[in-house]
Amino acid sequence: SLFHWALFPSFHFQFLLLIPPDTPRNISCIYYFDAELTCTWTSGRETNFRTNYTLYRKMTMGSCQSKTESCSFYYPDTPYSSSFCFQVKAENILGEASSGCVPIPMEKIEKFEPPEILSVKKITGIKQLLTVTWKMPEKIIPSQDLICQVRYRNLYSNSSVSYINFLPNKMGSCNLTGLWDSTEYSVAIRCISVVSKFWSEWSRGKKASTEEKAPSERVDLWRVIESSHPAGSRYVHLMWKVYALSPLNNFPPSGRILGYKIQYFPENNAALKMTNISSNEKVILLLNEEAYIISVTAYNSAGNSPEAVLRIPSADERCKISQCFDTLLSLEKKKKEKKKNLPDICLSSVIAEAKLY
Ligand SMILES: *[C@@H]1O[C@H](CO)[C@@H](O)[C@H](O)[C@H]1NC(C)=O
Ligand SMILES: *[C@@H]1O[C@H](CO)[C@@H](O)[C@H](O)[C@H]1NC(C)=O
Ligand SMILES: *[C@@H]1O[C@H](CO)[C@@H](O)[C@H](O)[C@H]1NC(C)=O
Ligand SMILES: *[C@@H]1O[C@H](CO)[C@@H](O)[C@H](O)[C@H]1NC(C)=O
Ligand SMILES: *[C@@H]1O[C@H](CO)[C@@H](O)[C@H](O)[C@H]1NC(C)=O
Repeated sequence: SLFHWALFPSFHFQFLLLIPPDTPRNISCIYYFDAELTCTWTSGRETNFRTNYTLYRKMTMGSCQSKTESCSFYYPDTPYSSSFCFQVKAENILGEASSGCVPIPMEKIEKFEPPEILSVKKITGIKQLLTVTWKMPEKIIPSQDLICQVRYRNLYSNSSVSYINFLPNKMGSCNLTGLWDSTEYSVAIRCISVVSKFWSEWSRGKKASTEEKAPSERVDLWRVIESSHPAGSRYVHLMWKVYALSPLNNFPPSGRILGYKIQYFPENNAALKMTNISSNEKVILLLNEEAYIISVTAYNSAGNSPEAVLRIPSADERCKISQCFDTLLSLEKKKKEKKKNLPDICLSSVIAEAKLY
């Protein structure tokens, strides 16, 4: 223990195991056809001596040396065979230990490079579909059956990731169906030999959008009327929202939206219709004292949504309505009379206008 004191003056006692190596265990290998064969293993207890490992590929097909728990053969030293077994010998200056020779049919440990996605495309005129084409890597053990898996993510909803498995055809293509309209997807693919336990890594992702469809829902339209200017003109603030995506709904509420079309005309003169385009979800109109009809539609390259329509009361009407509202407020305060005793027309106007106050 004098030895320890000398070596570790910081008073950290260390007990070094000075032993021959344990038998290597858990040999496992991965085979890349015509490229690489790598085996790994676990070596047991730390021996505190440098340990040399030798991996044997039997019968008598060769060996490789390593100082870590892994060793690789490289092309051209990577012949394919179903009947190799693999053995690891560990040795240090105190001794050596060899594992048994573990039979590992190489088709069962085959892994190949990920396929390459050549394209992800919509087919013009077919909605909710994308066609994916890809190229398989060249270095694959010949004449093994394969399975591929496509992973596609809806970039609009974030949450939904889907997978489909299929037997690849000669062309290396498949259709994804039942997708959302006008929605961008990110697609990736991986494949596996049916007898192997290793999938390839995922290919690089590729993005594409499905065929567009006109927005299907009317916008949720709202307005605030500024109090009248002396001349009778008024600023009308229009605001709208596109329906939020319901988490339970499988389809987006409306297709992709490029902009909004706002149309308005005096109630008694439709010939004076004006049209404005907006890319924001709001606009301010300067209207005179007349009553107006206003409509808003969302549009994209495939067409328009249904119209959301509302009426702006004339300055006169609004005056009456606000009087009515004031009356209601005072009644409410004094509790002299119940709401239901108000004339119905008055009440519904108040409800319609109450949002403005
Ligand atoms: C050896 O492999 C088995 C099965 O693969 C695993 O459960 C075990 O944890 C491995 N042991 C070590 C030491 O890695
Ligand atoms: C380990 O291999 C090196 C050469 O790479 C050799 O010099 C050394 O003697 C070997 N050690 C043992 C314990 O076999
Ligand atoms: C999707 O995720 C991004 C970033 O994580 C976020 O900014 C965006 O709002 C999300 N979209 C939806 C529809 O949840
Ligand atoms: C994909 O769908 C298109 C149109 O329906 C069809 O012509 C094509 O053969 C399909 N491709 C595959 C791989 O199923
Ligand atoms: C409507 O469009 C005209 C011309 O495009 C523009 O001058 C006007 O400011 C727009 N009005 C609103 C309210 O955006």
